[in-house]
Amino acid sequence: MAFNFMVAFLSTTLMLSVFSPGNALSLNYYEKTCPDAELIIANTVKKEFASDKTVPAAILRMHFHDCFIRGCDASVLLNSKGNTKAEKDGPPNVSLHAFYVIDNAKKAVEASCPGVVSCADILALAARDAIYLSGGPSWDVPKGRKDGRTSKASETIQLPAPTFNISQLQQSFSQRGLSMEDLVALSGGHTLGFSHCSSFKNRIHNFNATHDVDPSMHPSFAASLKSICPVKTNAKNAGTTMDPSSTTFDNTYYKLILKKKSLFSSDQALLDTPKTKDLVTKFASSKEAFSKAFVNSMIKMSSINGGQEVRKDCREVN
Ligand code: HEM
Ligand SMILES: *[C@@H]1O[C@H](CO)[C@@H](O)[C@H](O)[C@H]1NC(C)=O
Ligand SMILES: *[C@@H]1O[C@H](CO)[C@@H](O)[C@H](O)[C@H]1NC(C)=O
Ligand SMILES: *[C@@H]1O[C@H](CO)[C@@H](O)[C@H](O)[C@H]1NC(C)=O
Repeated sequence: MAFNFMVAFLSTTLMLSVFSPGNALSLNYYEKTCPDAELIIANTVKKEFASDKTVPAAILRMHFHDCFIRGCDASVLLNSKGNTKAEKDGPPNVSLHAFYVIDNAKKAVEASCPGVVSCADILALAARDAIYLSGGPSWDVPKGRKDGRTSKASETIQLPAPTFNISQLQQSFSQRGLSMEDLVALSGGHTLGFSHCSSFKNRIHNFNATHDVDPSMHPSFAASLKSICPVKTNAKNAGTTMDPSSTTFDNTYYKLILKKKSLFSSDQALLDTPKTKDLVTKFASSKEAFSKAFVNSMIKMSSINGGQEVRKDCREVN
């Protein structure tokens, strides 16, 4: 008994020390070393948003991808080097864009306090700013993340796929310490942005042996998607906005799920357990409830531990 306890204790301690460097995050992390960091980052995101309204969606998705692979350690920002392909060159990268926003924020922060603010923190803060600029809530972001030294295209298969069912989604989130409530709230990130046909075409053509179209999709919605995404097309950039108000943070996403008009199986699947269905219904009827849950879950997701250093250039390890 005592022995088993010791073994369990030791292996847990070992796992913690090996797998989570345990960078303690805090709200006042840069108070003395870079007091203007947040302002500088916010100004950069605001400036880039003024000329490109798709910047918030890009930054939010980038942050999500970062946190789901090796923790929030800016691994998504590293460039491929030699024959090692980085995450950003892995298969689900079709929508990753606007890396220049983080580069510009980093440059501006470095000019003020060189070598102090991690790229992972810049990305987490920029994601918060992106939500606020889109009409969503704002919140205090705990800081002190470190940047990682590894990024592998092959690891992008660890991201949840749009074809996932509710149990696969639950597993993907729980492996990262995130709950079903986090899953429903964070999926609301799909209130922003754009999706390519490749991400949902399985639902509208040849769904399975008995149904051409996924029966969990509204027929009129499927018909409109079919016209945007015909079976055969050379249009690589074809697709549609995630919701009609795709540059505004609102709760339309949840209303569409209730109407069977969400794009991905992973969105529609949120109706498949009583608990997640209740949350979808709650968020569809209250933007405030959604915003509150989203903030809570963003803080949780963006605290998944990663890296070791403060990179000088977000695209390269030191
Ligand atoms: C629950 C599992 C999730 C799956 C399966 C998923 C899947 C996808 C897919 C397939 C796309 C479209 C890619 C394309 O075709 O261009 C997309 C876009 C997007 N996702 Fe998710 N996602 C998930 C969770 C999240 C989370 C947690 C967030 C953030 C909180 C998020 C934010 C976004 C945003 C903002 C876009 C639009 C990107 C843009 O327009 O640049 N997603 N997602
Ligand atoms: C995505 O990956 C492909 C190769 O796998 C690469 O050519 C392309 O530049 C990448 N896209 C982005 C936005 O990094
Ligand atoms: C979800 O998909 C997995 C893998 O295909 C399958 O084993 C599982 O039974 C499915 N679960 C549900 C609830 O459909
Ligand atoms: C096709 O999908 C529908 C809905 O998920 C299901 O009811 C049906 O049994 C599936 N058909 C086959 C042949 O798998």
